Amino acid sequence: TQSDVLYRPLIHFSPTTGFMNDPNGLIFDGTHYHLYYQYDPFAPYAGHVHWGHAISTDMLHWEDQPIAIDETKDGEAFTGCTVLDVKNTSGLFDTDKGGMAAIYTRATPHKQTQYLAISKDNGQSFTEYAHNPVLDIGSNSFRDPKILFHKPTNQWVMVIAKSRLHQIAFYASIDLIHWTHLSDFGPSGLFGVDYECPNLLEIPVEGGGSRWVLFVSVNPGGPTGGSITQYFIGDFDGSRFTPGDTVIGLTDFAKDAYALQLYDNMPNGEAVAIAWLGNWQYCQELPTHSWRGAMTLPRTLALRHDAAGWLRLAQKPRGVEALRGAEIAFPTRRIAAGSSTQATLPLGGALELVMSVTVDERPHDLPLGDKGRTGRFVIVFGNEQGESLTIGFDAFSGQLWLDRNDLNGFSQPFFTGQFSTALNPDDRHFDIHLILDACTLEIFANGGLSVGTALIFPSNPLTFLRLEASGAGASIENLALYPLKKTMP
Ligand code: FRU
Repeated sequence: TQSDVLYRPLIHFSPTTGFMNDPNGLIFDGTHYHLYYQYDPFAPYAGHVHWGHAISTDMLHWEDQPIAIDETKDGEAFTGCTVLDVKNTSGLFDTDKGGMAAIYTRATPHKQTQYLAISKDNGQSFTEYAHNPVLDIGSNSFRDPKILFHKPTNQWVMVIAKSRLHQIAFYASIDLIHWTHLSDFGPSGLFGVDYECPNLLEIPVEGGGSRWVLFVSVNPGGPTGGSITQYFIGDFDGSRFTPGDTVIGLTDFAKDAYALQLYDNMPNGEAVAIAWLGNWQYCQELPTHSWRGAMTLPRTLALRHDAAGWLRLAQKPRGVEALRGAEIAFPTRRIAAGSSTQATLPLGGALELVMSVTVDERPHDLPLGDKGRTGRFVIVFGNEQGESLTIGFDAFSGQLWLDRNDLNGFSQPFFTGQFSTALNPDDRHFDIHLILDACTLEIFANGGLSVGTALIFPSNPLTFLRLEASGAGASIENLALYPLKKTMP
């Protein structure tokens, strides 16, 4: 149908047909990046879960591959990971050079157990280990194993969700087959209903050092509704994760980035993640029909001290600069209070906007205690049909918001329209990097400390960009608008 084409992302991965949710098995094999994903090939609804597969050399141009892991009589192939067993610790490979192994959850309504499978063709196809499951605790809510090789203790470490107990369990193994329980973390942070898709990695701190970060996806129960990925910054000694403080970090201030998974085997310890660009509250009702689901852009992760001194996760889209076409001129430098300026957008392409702005000082003649005054800088993507997508910054209260309410292509009770987040309250300076691509919007503001990911469904293409100032004028220090070259078929 028409909406299947209108909403098809041009630089984000989406399945040709069928239903997609979590990214799985993210790994760099030395040549290719692999993206496996939760996939129902038969219908645009969650069910009959297989592992779909795509490969890329830049995480932006993806080539579809045959399904890698099937649903079997033992159950659906739920979320999991891949590792390179380069020393053949499992003994399952024919040579000392080893190969790729996948560890994932086989799920039936009655039980969730962990399966091992190995690939002798570099991740194209997998053969299940003969004595699966490799981990079974007699539970029906025990899933989503993610494994890393922990060098200091020279062993594989698995993080896995005891979903309904709101706990993340840690296990160790020397051969990927025999697993020993190490510790449990949680309940901590958001409670919700299910803990899912845990991920653990040592992530560099800008300016030096590194900390361990534990990501835990929660569904439902996110503060913006439904699915959300939270993170804890702390230490990991090979057997136990100790959070450094009690602040809950959320990876997103909107609600369409879930089940974040980290790439394994990245050169130089680069921390890169992809999340599912969706939310369980409405993913099966989205206004596409032959396909449903998209992935976020790959994002490089770092830890940074914010203005108040807290360590926080910073995210930035990885590699999109390479897709930039000729800059679209937008010569505005100054927008007076109460005025606006507008540019026409190229039709039907993905767009990147990089901008930094300083809003004028709060007027000094305000009566004492007047907190009502706003100094707003607003970015509007609109069309002649009166639809608009708004991203706004209120300098005096230090808040950023996103409003997708005035888009008419989809409505559903949980498809919330407005999101906001607090920025540094003493800073009239605002920077934003956003990518708009068909039904997806990703906002990286505040140097990537404030990230908003949202599905958007205008019923007609957005044709203009308008910048508005109200309450106070604004000076634009930097403004670059680029069309991005299509990477997907
Ligand atoms: C997260 C999740 C996982 C599960 C998978 C099923 O979105 O619910 O916990 O393994 O999706 O597709």
